[in-house]
This record gives sequence, C-alpha cells and structure tokens, in this order.
Amino acid sequence: MEKSLKAVQVVVTAGDGIGPEVVAAGAQVLEEVASLYDLQVTQVERPLGGGSIDKFGEPCTDEVLQDALDADAVLLGAVGGPQWDDPQARFTPEEGVLRLREGLGLYANVRPVRVHDALLGRSPLRPEVVRGTDLVIVRELTGGLYFGRPKELRTVDGEPAAVDTLLYRRSEVERIVRHGFKWASARRGRLLSVDKFNVLVTGRFWRDIATEISRQYPDIEFSTMLADAFAAALVQRPTDWDVVVTENTFGDFLSDEAGVFTGSLGMLPSASLGDGPHALYEPVHGSAPDIAGDHAANPLATILSVALMFRHSFGLSQAATAIESAVEWTLNDGFRTRDIAEEGARLVDTQSMTAAVIARIEGPSTN
Ligand code: IPM
Ligand code: MG
Repeated sequence: MEKSLKAVQVVVTAGDGIGPEVVAAGAQVLEEVASLYDLQVTQVERPLGGGSIDKFGEPCTDEVLQDALDADAVLLGAVGGPQWDDPQARFTPEEGVLRLREGLGLYANVRPVRVHDALLGRSPLRPEVVRGTDLVIVRELTGGLYFGRPKELRTVDGEPAAVDTLLYRRSEVERIVRHGFKWASARRGRLLSVDKFNVLVTGRFWRDIATEISRQYPDIEFSTMLADAFAAALVQRPTDWDVVVTENTFGDFLSDEAGVFTGSLGMLPSASLGDGPHALYEPVHGSAPDIAGDHAANPLATILSVALMFRHSFGLSQAATAIESAVEWTLNDGFRTRDIAEEGARLVDTQSMTAAVIARIEGPSTN
C-alpha cells in the first residue's frame, strides 16, 4: 500500500455530453470524502474532447497534458458526440483521451465488474446466472490495435484502403501480464489471459510470454483462453472469473460486455494506472449525448471511479471502501436513475442520487 498523501491536486476533465453532469457528482464526492478523511484536495478543471476541439482546435492541448502530468490524478467524464463525428475532421474527441492515456504512461486499465444484488432484476442475464459476479478486467491500454503504426488511409491496387496495426513489444506484454498477476494475488488468486492465439501472431506471442511469466507465480491459478470463446463463456458463466488480462481492443469489447451484467454501463468505474505516479479515473460509459442535460445520467460509475482514486492514488483504502459501501447502501435503499430503474422504482436525478450517496458515506473509524 502506498503511503497516504496529505495534499493532492486533481485535474478534472469533464468532457462532452453527460461528462460534466457525472463529473460534477464525482467532484462533489471527492470534496466531501477528502474533508472527512483529512485530505486537502485542489481540483482544477481542464477542457478535453469535443469541447476542446471547438475551442482550441485539438482534443487535448499540450497544456492540459502537462497539467495532468503535474497532478496526482485525473478525473475524466466522457468525450464525443455526433457533432464531432465527421470522418473528414482532423481530430476526434476520443483522441484526446488516448493522448492522455499514452502521455501519462497508463498502460493498465483496470475495470472491476461487480453485480449488486439490488440490481439483479435489471441485468440482462438471469439472476441465478449473474448473482455474485465479481471480476476485474485488466486491459492493456497504450498498445495493441489502438496505437500500432502504421495507422492510415492508403491506396491499395488503385483502391482506397485503411490500415491499423496490432503490434506489441515484449516489454509491453510483460508489464501488463505482471499487472494482471498483481491483481490476482490481491484478489482470489486466479488469472485468465485472453488472446487470439489461433489466428494472430501477436496472440501467440502474448500467450507465450504470459505462460512463461506464470511460472514465476506458482500460487496463482493461471489459464488462457481465446477471445471469442471467452466472450461466450463470460455470459454463460459470469461468476467463474477473477482477473482477466487482455489486449487493448479485446479489453474494450469485453469490458462493455461484462459491464452490462450489472444492469447498466452506468455502474462501471475504471482506473488507468502505470508504473509512475500518474493515474486517470473514468467511468466506462460514454458521453450519452441523447440524454445530456436531462439530469438523468447515472453518476455511480464516476463516484465509484473516485473510490478507486482514493485507494490507488491517495493510499486511502478506508475512504474508498466508505464510498463503495455508500453506493451499495444507496442502491439497497431503492434509489435509481433511469438506466437502472425497474417498474415502480424510486426514480431520482443525477443530483439526488449523488446526495443520497454522500449522505451514506461514513468517516474514518476512531478505533
Ligand atoms: C473506453 C472507451 C474509449 C476506448 C474511447 C472513448 C477512446 O470506449 O474507455 O472503453 O475505446 O478506449
Ligand atoms: Mg469502450
């Protein structure tokens, strides 16, 4: 466990769509919990994504990246929207997020998926199948198909074509696999490495390295699986998994798949970590432009991301657990935003959900 800090700086990039609404909720929880746990937090707001393209011509300026590098953590909302979807545009809002991840060296994206009993009725899976699901997806975040070069439009045999590159260096695979083992050690001691060994050279390469490293962790039950087979097994047996480590794109797909088990993607937090002091926390969901401004967004994914921030960046596990327990309690008390509301539920807006959570956060125990 890292030493707990006394004063921290958090860069807050709200982004687009519902980003500002959920980030306001996260920022409020951050403020409240910091004061309960004696942590001095300075929050600085910075532009990112579509709004930044409109104002500065690019989705993440050098200044914002530098501020993020100087901060102890970044809290990110979500980026994107139809007005920035023009395929001819020079930049996409998403490139702002990618620049931050890469620039901060955050190669490990950790996405815990916990199904809350109170939301079992909202899961697309039957309660007896999904009850008790508690897994962590460790997604490689700064390599693979997202970042490999070349990445371009070109002409092939006189015809327009496009290329992305799936490339991994040995060191990149090693460090993410080790990260997976670290998480498995801290949890139930099981690690699954997911690849496309039967088709991709990178899949073979990944599996060889992961298997080799697994010998250094005799206490961890290690296994491997093909990505397509795992996508099926994940919905059939969601409670079977502990920690899953995988390539960037596979992790993107699989975490959305696992995310909906909880009833809504609006429940899923994430932490992006590296070997350095930097970290970024963001909900897994997108900017949901269709409901932006409606006060209907579910703030829980962002609030749970703030919990991860307390645990992983500030060394305050007790504060993190206090937030997670408050969320559980709020759900048990029946508070529901639209995305997780069943018939006859206690429907609340973003702000009331946030207030309900804050009212349930306990301060440090005195013993
Ligand atoms: C995610 C998102 C991002 C990704 C986008 C916004 C760049 O889908 O965090 O899963 O594809 O990684
Ligand atoms: Mg995604």
